[in-house]
Amino acid sequence: MNANLILKFAETFVSLASEINKVKDLINYVKNIDEKIDIANYYYEKIAEGSSRIVYLTDNDTVIKIAKNDKGIAQNKAELLVKDNCKYINAVIDSDGKYWLEAKYLKQLNSSDFEKLVGISFYKFSKCLNFALNEVSDSNHPKPDYLDEVKDLDIFKELVKIGKKYKIMPGDMIRISSYCQSNGYPVLIDFGMTKDVFYKYYD
Ligand SMILES: Nc1ncnc2c1ncn2[C@@H]1O[C@H](COP(=O)(O)OP(=O)(O)OP(=O)(O)O)[C@@H](O)[C@H]1O
Ligand SMILES: [Mg+2]
Repeated sequence: MNANLILKFAETFVSLASEINKVKDLINYVKNIDEKIDIANYYYEKIAEGSSRIVYLTDNDTVIKIAKNDKGIAQNKAELLVKDNCKYINAVIDSDGKYWLEAKYLKQLNSSDFEKLVGISFYKFSKCLNFALNEVSDSNHPKPDYLDEVKDLDIFKELVKIGKKYKIMPGDMIRISSYCQSNGYPVLIDFGMTKDVFYKYYD
């Protein structure tokens, strides 16, 4: 590639990168949640909407999750606290600390993908996770017969450790839709429903 072409690519790349940051600046600039959402609706592609957050795809292969209400803000803040370097958690890469957070866009996975990657069914995995996180959910799920098949899996140990550390309610962690895949691992993309958030907003 000649020098001019490289320069042209570099210029295009820089202008693209600054455009992406401009949208975030604009979202930060307006104070009202509805205006923030209007801006996101205009510039980004909406890929999902829950009761408390809207998820957008950016041109940068990332997602921006914008809170719609206090429940969404609380979940964004909870996700921001998880700073462990864990390959099974989709870490936050940028945020305003409140209304929005940005994370890598990852490929979705279904239960059969999960089983291929981990070597155990998502059903068994989720039953064991529910049991292991009884202390977080204040529940009494009985010990599954197949716990021995699951308990030494790296993904299980790591997610139980993080679940206990941040008191993440197992409800989202046992839904396959809360996982995507990256580098051949399932990765948890939704971990904002902590015990505190649950009892404050959802109980
Ligand atoms: N990093 C990502 N990569 C790809 N898709 C994503 C990503 N994050 C979220 N999504 C999509 O957006 C959906 C909702 O995301 P998430 O579960 O984080 O938001 P939520 O507000 O907690 O939603 P819910 O109310 O359903 O729990 C996911 O099920 C997934 O389809
Ligand atoms: Mg959620």
